[in-house]
Amino acid sequence: MQTTELVRFKKLGKQITVLTAWDAISSSIVEASGADVVLVGDSLGMVVLGHATTLPVTLDQMLHHTKAVCRGFSKPLSKQPLVVCDLPFLSYQCGEEKAVEAAGTLLKNSCASAVKLEGAEPETLLVIKRLVRMGIPVMGHLGLTPQSVHQLGYKSQARDKESQDKILEDSKMLEASGCFAIVLEHIPGEIASRLRKHLTIPVIGIGAGTDCDGQVRVTADILGLSIEQPPFAKPLLAGRELCIDALKKWIQLTNLIQENPTTKTSESKSDC
Ligand code: KIV
Repeated sequence: MQTTELVRFKKLGKQITVLTAWDAISSSIVEASGADVVLVGDSLGMVVLGHATTLPVTLDQMLHHTKAVCRGFSKPLSKQPLVVCDLPFLSYQCGEEKAVEAAGTLLKNSCASAVKLEGAEPETLLVIKRLVRMGIPVMGHLGLTPQSVHQLGYKSQARDKESQDKILEDSKMLEASGCFAIVLEHIPGEIASRLRKHLTIPVIGIGAGTDCDGQVRVTADILGLSIEQPPFAKPLLAGRELCIDALKKWIQLTNLIQENPTTKTSESKSDC
């Protein structure tokens, strides 16, 4: 899957599905689900590494997890989902040279074909233009941008006219700078819908209503594995409860076998 395919999907009116992955197990499951894109999001800092924000995530950690994601795929390359990797905080805010080096390192050493970065500040637009000129596809990210949590919080964005006008303007700038798609996080559905119509590149929503060209979700949220579930991502599975129940069962069986070694259970029979 290539980035240009996503623009074709938009033209055809085919919904684009994006799921996050953070290791080989999660990417093998996401690949088998048939998602179009795997995002190695820096949300892994919170979901997997237990941080309170995405800010502590390093480029080395992103590369380490992206490599594991790539090792989890089993389909031939041409059938694998497109892999997009987040540029972590401070890997692209300190100038174009540093950003090219960070994005290039991810693409050079993993199967990622594109990077995602947040915001549309003038410096960020210059970085995007430079990356695109260097052959590195870029996905934009507007609305709730978690790397700006200390300014914006984790609340819904673009609630007033001024910030709605700004997000419309920013999205056009991202498109003009060469982004191949834009993630819109936690904004009113009407604004996402307007953006979708204004832009030729796909808008991928999360907490941005249903009238988008595609949707992205943190896989752990859908599976009900996240400790804190965002309001806009309802789990489709009680993953934590199912896992805890299964592990409790195993502990009970193990204790039972130790107390009474002659006990025959389906697990002990198959054990060697
Ligand atoms: O880091 C991430 O997982 C993301 C998605 C929430 C879009 O950026």
